Amino acid sequence: MNVLITGGSGYLGQFLVHGLAELGYTVHYTYGSRQLASAPAGVVAHKVDLSTGEGLTQAFEQTPFHAVVNCAAISQPALCETAPDTARAVNVPTHLVDCLLRQEAERGGLRALLIHISTDQVFDGSRAHWKEDEAGNQVNVYGKSKYEAEQHILSRLPEPYPVAILRSSIIYGPPAPDPVPRPLFLQFVASAVSNPDKPTSFFQDEHRSPVHVRDLQRLTELLIAAHGQQLEVQQQQGQQGAAAAESVPRKAVEALAPGALATVAARRHRVYNAGGPERLSRVDMARQVADCLGCGHGSIESVPSASVARPGGPGGFSHPRYTGPGCVPCPRPGLW
Ligand SMILES: NC(=O)c1ccc[n+]([C@@H]2O[C@H](COP(=O)([O-])OP(=O)(O)OC[C@H]3O[C@@H](n4cnc5c(N)ncnc54)[C@H](OP(=O)(O)O)[C@@H]3O)[C@@H](O)[C@H]2O)c1
Repeated sequence: MNVLITGGSGYLGQFLVHGLAELGYTVHYTYGSRQLASAPAGVVAHKVDLSTGEGLTQAFEQTPFHAVVNCAAISQPALCETAPDTARAVNVPTHLVDCLLRQEAERGGLRALLIHISTDQVFDGSRAHWKEDEAGNQVNVYGKSKYEAEQHILSRLPEPYPVAILRSSIIYGPPAPDPVPRPLFLQFVASAVSNPDKPTSFFQDEHRSPVHVRDLQRLTELLIAAHGQQLEVQQQQGQQGAAAAESVPRKAVEALAPGALATVAARRHRVYNAGGPERLSRVDMARQVADCLGCGHGSIESVPSASVARPGGPGGFSHPRYTGPGCVPCPRPGLW
């Protein structure tokens, strides 16, 4: 089963590339500027420019894809504010959707499952506990471009095209196998709380639901395995669109909790809030990291978000709630 990870050189993308290859999928990934030194043997790299589609069309011409996970984005809100046109060109996956539709037309109706990683910043953040159908009034360019991406996908790939949009909150976890050229959330907080000589300000009034990278990875693996099994059934029934389907790797199915595949295969929605189980302010997060590391709270300064000027203005971020099917619980030692 061929899986393409766009933005496979990024933080989340790297965990997916390694995890899916380990499970036995044939993994392809795209990168913009940084080919992975750590990629496992057999993984195929494609250099692409997602703002123009260059390189992506060629990847689809060479290989039929059964699932695509779109992790590519200009993911730093501050960068999006300074280059809104570029942010929109990369974050709204027009060329990827073109390729998926062309593949369906030219490869016997083969529909690749599209898992698109969105963000909780599609909400305006004016209150807590958002439902999936309440997005709107985004407060920054990043949130607007990610919401436009969702609308673009949903309108051009209407049902029954298989789509799962996962609105992630802040992603935390261990460093990626290859370094990524931006500060990692958990590592930044850990470094800040470990330095008693330098107080660091954390917002007391900005709440998110941080999600562990391994939970997003497991959720993605589950969705791909469920889709692969559906393709297998279609193939057995001789249905159009499954001609190029290949078996889901046995290891991928064995790695799942009993009943998990059936639950996901029966999913009725296309857009999911995919945060972690807790709703925490930035100060709460810093205190939890400090406790985990055995540091005191002395270097943590609790401040209102209005005390810092930044794109989107005071309070310019969202407060999503955690809704099902959510993330697959997985064992992990502490925060790391
Ligand atoms: N990290 C978080 O806390 C968080 C929270 C919520 C949602 N998300 C969303 O989750 C997804 C993954 O986030 P992440 O943190 O893993 O992102 P990331 O580390 O910033 O990686 C971004 C990826 O996009 C690629 N890319 C950017 N511009 C490109 C272009 N013009 N052409 C081709 N590739 C391009 C990068 O390639 P190169 O580096 O090789 O150039 C990289 O592989 C994103 O959609 C993001 O919006 C992230």
